[in-house]
Amino acid sequence: MTPTFAKKIAGAPKAELHLHIEGSLEPELIFKLAKRNGVALPYDSIEALRAAYAFTDLQSFLDIYYAGASVLRTEDDFYEMTAAYVERARADGVIHAEIFFDPQTHTERGVPIATVVAGIERALAEAEPRGFSSKMILCFLRHLSEDDALATFESALPLFDAYAHRLIGIGLDSSERGHPPSKFERVFAKARTRGLKRVAHAGEEGPPAYIDEALDLLQVERIDHGVRSIEDPSLVTRLANTRIALTVCPLSNLKLRVFDDMKHHTLKTLLERGVAVTINSDDPAYFGGYVNANYLAAADALALSDAALYAILRNGFEASFVTPAERNAMIAQLDAHWHAGSTGKPGDARSPS
Ligand code: ADE
Ligand code: ZN
Repeated sequence: MTPTFAKKIAGAPKAELHLHIEGSLEPELIFKLAKRNGVALPYDSIEALRAAYAFTDLQSFLDIYYAGASVLRTEDDFYEMTAAYVERARADGVIHAEIFFDPQTHTERGVPIATVVAGIERALAEAEPRGFSSKMILCFLRHLSEDDALATFESALPLFDAYAHRLIGIGLDSSERGHPPSKFERVFAKARTRGLKRVAHAGEEGPPAYIDEALDLLQVERIDHGVRSIEDPSLVTRLANTRIALTVCPLSNLKLRVFDDMKHHTLKTLLERGVAVTINSDDPAYFGGYVNANYLAAADALALSDAALYAILRNGFEASFVTPAERNAMIAQLDAHWHAGSTGKPGDARSPS
């Protein structure tokens, strides 16, 4: 990839649709908050913690991710974590983010869900006038029971009302294998009745059948990851025809060994088959980079063209849960950047491929 092309990608306005805010906790902040809150960590130093980030699969990551999240106790902690993410995302050109959080990770430690949401909201509200638009999506941990998810949902109802401008939907994350979407049919039906948006992790480590289940039983509007959809041609056709977007996270897939090499990532083939693929960072503090690092790693390994990159960037806005007017304004920002100085003609030196 030419330096000019890398610069064009890095400077492009972006949407980030798959970001666990707890996965943006950098080791330095984990240690700072642990000290502030008197939380004992099973690591002696920042370096020792970082050295533990050698994952073999999703579960090996989740064990460390939940340990890291245990330092979050107060509203200020959630504020500080979110403000740090916003700064890094803005530096990468993100102008709109739809941010996941895992309330059950915190409520089980006695942190009220209202504290979690208030801290995240304060940072996001501050970022709004600085050109950073955002939404929040409450995720249920699929390794816990549906009754636990239902109780969490009930306890969050006042928050869905109080923060209706920001808290717009629900998601499903954590250990995928053995925890099919069907386990959460009732809670997703309740959310649908209330007009909330719905997304779910599916086809990350789990089989393509989990993607069909998420679509059929949970009626999700986006699939998080979904990279194993490639194994089922009829599912690929279904995704392409419905334009249900996949929020793909290339560096996450590499670190959690979904693919042994970025060159084997399925996102390019899915894109070529008409699937609305987007690029996101998942848990950037753990997987070696924020959204630009994900774009650049995928673009480089898969030799993505100028047109492919534009399509992926645009998909991010098309698949976001904003109003049509907001979407159009964001796409106009993307177009102004992407097509600046280019005649659009093949062979134009200013349209690097
Ligand atoms: N929670 C945080 N990151 C996750 C991922 N990549 N898959 C499932 N659950 C998660
Ligand atoms: Zn995720």
